[in-house]
Amino acid sequence: MSAVVVVGAQWGDEGKGKVVDYFTERADTVVRFAGGPNAGHTLVVGDDKLIVRLVPSGILRRTTTCLLGQGMVVDPAVLVGELDELTRRGLDPESRLWLSDRAHLILPYHVTLDGLREGSGRAGAVIGTTKRGIGPAYEDKAARRGVRTGDLRDLARLEQLVEQALAAWAPVLRDLGGAVPAVGPIVEALRPLAARLVPLLADTSRMADEAIRGGRGVLLEGAQGTLLDLDHGTYPFVTSSTAVAGGACAGAGIGPTRIDAVVGITKAYVTRVGGGPFPTELNDATGARLREVGAEFGSVTGRPRRTGWLDLPALRYAARVNGLDGLALTKLDVLTGLPHVEVCVAYDTPSGRTDQLPIDELDTARPVYERLEGWSETLSEARSLDELPAAARAYVRFLEEGSGVPVDLVSVGARRTETLVIRDPLKRG
Ligand code: IMP
Repeated sequence: MSAVVVVGAQWGDEGKGKVVDYFTERADTVVRFAGGPNAGHTLVVGDDKLIVRLVPSGILRRTTTCLLGQGMVVDPAVLVGELDELTRRGLDPESRLWLSDRAHLILPYHVTLDGLREGSGRAGAVIGTTKRGIGPAYEDKAARRGVRTGDLRDLARLEQLVEQALAAWAPVLRDLGGAVPAVGPIVEALRPLAARLVPLLADTSRMADEAIRGGRGVLLEGAQGTLLDLDHGTYPFVTSSTAVAGGACAGAGIGPTRIDAVVGITKAYVTRVGGGPFPTELNDATGARLREVGAEFGSVTGRPRRTGWLDLPALRYAARVNGLDGLALTKLDVLTGLPHVEVCVAYDTPSGRTDQLPIDELDTARPVYERLEGWSETLSEARSLDELPAAARAYVRFLEEGSGVPVDLVSVGARRTETLVIRDPLKRG
């Protein structure tokens, strides 16, 4: 058994929930290490669909321990709502879920600030965020005035921290046309949430380390995707946390020497939600078809996702910055029925053609495409690569060769069974 990091190789929504859920059959512990309720992982169990935002996807397996690491920002009301929903489904989350006492809290004024900025229409303020308070909560963390989950143990002290944070935010709130909220009601609203969450607080860094040392399989579940990473993404159209594999160590509290494998999830095409460059975007009937067939609507916000062809330079970039040693290819079935499939293989830029991703020139760079044959056969029955139609197999090989990363898994439908496993990363490490 080993420790495996699973990250999104694109702009998020690659299908991490399904892949992590699939691999957790062999993992004892699943850790989320970054982000917050901006993520929405759709899990499908039988005919049942469940969207989790904060709780790691591993929660569906009744024997899996789930950890929310200190790299996360946690909205306590959202978390308690999710725990209630999971309890209603008989999954007993509170017996096996632990919350780092060093994660940061998203408080109501973070959500207000996020919404006011997005609604302001001001240049530089509008990113197309999920309006879940992610940016302002991480801003407080970096400014060293954040409120942490561990502070829920002492609400009197927490009240002082909220006062300090609000003093800093007051001019910003007023400038955006908002009101400065009173501290008392914020703390009172937290009281029942604290009663639920304090018993779940733990040193999750130590728990993850012990699980790894004990030889139990540990999956480190990324959120969002490489191109939304604060350092490596399409800045400033990014999220405010680390979405690349390196963040798993800091966000879960384990050392890089403990990681055995890094798997990148990529859809067979690309989607993006929110603003920012997207060179292979399809604003035509094919793009609309991908959105319809792929059900590409935000699981958190319901926003229609922008859709486009697969971008190999972006995948190579993701392979490099994450150190990917395996790919999980999802939603291959969505391409079924297209007469041909295009893949971006290079970019034309003012300084010439490049097979690298010109990450800071994506507004002006022009994608160069290669056209591949499409297929019309249904894929959902296939259980090995050999059972795929030749053109679909060729597409998988093209992607493997072009990215330089072997494909570990191919997903051909939403159900657990609609998955071809070529190599199991939990056995590989
Ligand atoms: P924020 O994370 O809510 O601040 O949003 C920043 C950017 O990341 C926006 O473009 C969002 O649409 C995008 N984003 C955040 N979380 C996700 C996700 O889970 N999937 C896809 N896009 C996301």
